Amino acid sequence: MSSKLNSLEKSPHILVLGMGGTIAGLAPNPADQPLQYQAGQLKVESLLTHIESAVPKSLKLISEQVANINSRNLTEGLLSNLGEVVRASLANTEVLGLVITHGTDTIEETGVFLQLTCGNYAQILGKRVILTGAMLPSNASQADGPSNLLDAIRWASTPLDNCPGGIYAVMDGRGCMAMDLAKRHGTALNAPIQASPSSSVGLFNPSWLWGVKAKQAAWTEDLPIPKGDEWPWVEILTSHAGARSETINIWLNSRVKGLVLAGSGMGGLHDAWKDSLVAAVKQGVALVRTTRTGAGATLSDIPEKDLDGCLASGTLSAPRARIALQLALNAEKQAQLTGKSLTWQDFFARIAVLPEFR
Ligand code: SIN
Repeated sequence: MSSKLNSLEKSPHILVLGMGGTIAGLAPNPADQPLQYQAGQLKVESLLTHIESAVPKSLKLISEQVANINSRNLTEGLLSNLGEVVRASLANTEVLGLVITHGTDTIEETGVFLQLTCGNYAQILGKRVILTGAMLPSNASQADGPSNLLDAIRWASTPLDNCPGGIYAVMDGRGCMAMDLAKRHGTALNAPIQASPSSSVGLFNPSWLWGVKAKQAAWTEDLPIPKGDEWPWVEILTSHAGARSETINIWLNSRVKGLVLAGSGMGGLHDAWKDSLVAAVKQGVALVRTTRTGAGATLSDIPEKDLDGCLASGTLSAPRARIALQLALNAEKQAQLTGKSLTWQDFFARIAVLPEFR
């Protein structure tokens, strides 16, 4: 195992990128208070040292630290860095596959970001990128990080005919496409994956692979990675009992470029927002409607006709819809620079129709 700069390594290897998180966390008093810990303390290199004896000697692992943070502090600039490193590493013929150790709090955002910016590239090159993390810090007696990391390394290095190249995630012995990963429980060991419709106990069972292939077939072109300081400003607002028009109006006096509206049930928005949302569209603010329930699809025109200029999120949850809208707005800007008249709606619609696993 080595942490030398990946691009200098001249033999075939699996690249393990460290982003921080609980998997790299340390608790001062792990025996009595394993949940009182600081995330992002250990370097990814030392995470690999902990599992060294379980990795086949023939498999070379190289590590690179991209960040070491608690993922609740993830920034758009860091996503851009990670995306660029993943793209460059996929292009490196010595890299057989990638593993990313990440905090689970916002792994959902990173999962969809990598799928939409690198998913098609990984598929074409036939390489797998596997995200993983942990719910317990590295020095807890039941730490789940080592087994998750081993699963991820095994999956990244398994011969290709079992599973196509692409962006995946593994936690608690289950795998899914990374864009389906969603943390929907505060503490359970399988929290990030339990609500993911594409998760599979047997990673390579035929019906699961069929679903993966259907989704990949629908994703035929990656979106550009925004420059670190050029991400369009997009916020998430939740519709709820007692919603007020002021909640929308406040944003109309800002430089916000888009709003993701997390509605109740199937994505219904409070009537109190109606006039303000019409004003938002007139002002050129991009609107996406999703559901605050955390699961299920948000379809157009259900339960009622969508406002012109507001798109339904399909299967995207609010955090994913936000990243997707940012990438779509950025793609529109890049398209216009090259004289193409594609809009954010054209890009977002391609994402929202990606098939859902059942
Ligand atoms: C984090 O997201 O960095 C902390 C929580 C976790 O990894 O589970």
